[in-house]
Amino acid sequence: MVRVFINGYGNIGRRLASALSVDKEIQFVGIAKYTLDDKVKEALDNRYGVYVPKDAISSFKQKGLDVTGTVDDAVKGSDLVIDAAREGGGYDNKKKLYEPLNKRAIFQGGEDRHGESAVADIIHNSRVNYTVAADRKYVIQGSCNVSGMGRIMQPLIEKFGDRIKRFDVQLIRRWADLEDTKPVKDSIEWDRQPHHQDDVKDFLPQANLFVDAFKVPSRMMHLHQMFIRFKDKAPTKEEILESYRKEFGVAIVSFAKGTGDVRKKAIELGFSHGDTNMVHIHEDILRIQDDTVKLGYSDDQTGMVIPENHLLLQSMIFKRPRDEALKRTDALFQMSKKRKILEEELK
Ligand SMILES: NC(=O)c1ccc[n+]([C@@H]2O[C@H](COP(=O)([O-])OP(=O)(O)OC[C@H]3O[C@@H](n4cnc5c(N)ncnc54)[C@H](OP(=O)(O)O)[C@@H]3O)[C@@H](O)[C@H]2O)c1
Repeated sequence: MVRVFINGYGNIGRRLASALSVDKEIQFVGIAKYTLDDKVKEALDNRYGVYVPKDAISSFKQKGLDVTGTVDDAVKGSDLVIDAAREGGGYDNKKKLYEPLNKRAIFQGGEDRHGESAVADIIHNSRVNYTVAADRKYVIQGSCNVSGMGRIMQPLIEKFGDRIKRFDVQLIRRWADLEDTKPVKDSIEWDRQPHHQDDVKDFLPQANLFVDAFKVPSRMMHLHQMFIRFKDKAPTKEEILESYRKEFGVAIVSFAKGTGDVRKKAIELGFSHGDTNMVHIHEDILRIQDDTVKLGYSDDQTGMVIPENHLLLQSMIFKRPRDEALKRTDALFQMSKKRKILEEELK
């Protein structure tokens, strides 16, 4: 059985652990903790293997925390590491651990694809380039925004092809996640160099895409306002919606007045970690004007990439056909069921 270790236990690592610890197809080795805080107990209570840095093991044990071993041991005993370090931390892990121990790894979207600290030479998006990850040693799973854009753009590219002149996206990003303790600053900040444009072009090189990103004082999801310009008259609203009716991980809703309504609904419905794990097209703000489609959708920042990592694992390790992988991911995350409930609740 394939042994999988999650290096990190923050917002993404905790969610990955919830899912992979119940995936009967793999052997879940456990998670890494670096800071001695209440999350160590949470992980132990969940019966995960908890691995800590070698020089910190005695301080964890002194606090009565029965940790399983060292991070090095866990990496040695794994076939695949899913790195969930905070942004940029994956590069050091690759150099110090994964490369010397000859281990395969999946990195998260906060890592670099280009330059001195690049960790991999492809960014995965399950809707666009699922198959290219097979047999790769290192792959980056695109960030939540990058994953969402691929999921929305690819069906349009397949359906309308070169009738599309360009995509312009205004990304309105949340300041922090709900679990974060950092303060939410009262400011609208612009991103001088959004990485999303280059990241998406990595797997959709033919797309004429332009991205601007703004961070706003909210913890509740991201909102993408996408303008799709056509060479001739834009398609109808129904033609656009039709492109998504059978898409994995895309819900179509019209009742929400904002991203908070979607997040609160997911929490109220008892979805794991309060995540929907998908993007939500807001039909009420979908507009067709002359040659342009204005498509607004919210993107579940914390949940979006978790099923994506699971799909990537299936491509990379099991080389499974995409439709079969989707079925397994759907069963693990209950995506179709959640989509149906959300669409009914937010009709
Ligand atoms: N949050 C999101 O919504 C989101 C969405 C998509 C992608 N991502 C990407 O996912 C990655 C993780 O983000 P996050 O939000 O989960 O960050 P986070 O909540 O800040 O968690 C980061 C974790 O890294 C751990 N850590 C510290 N040193 C480490 C090391 N050397 N190796 C591995 N882990 C180490 C920390 O452990 P301790 O707590 O024990 O110190 C912490 O649990 C980033 O690349 C981010 O860009 C995040």
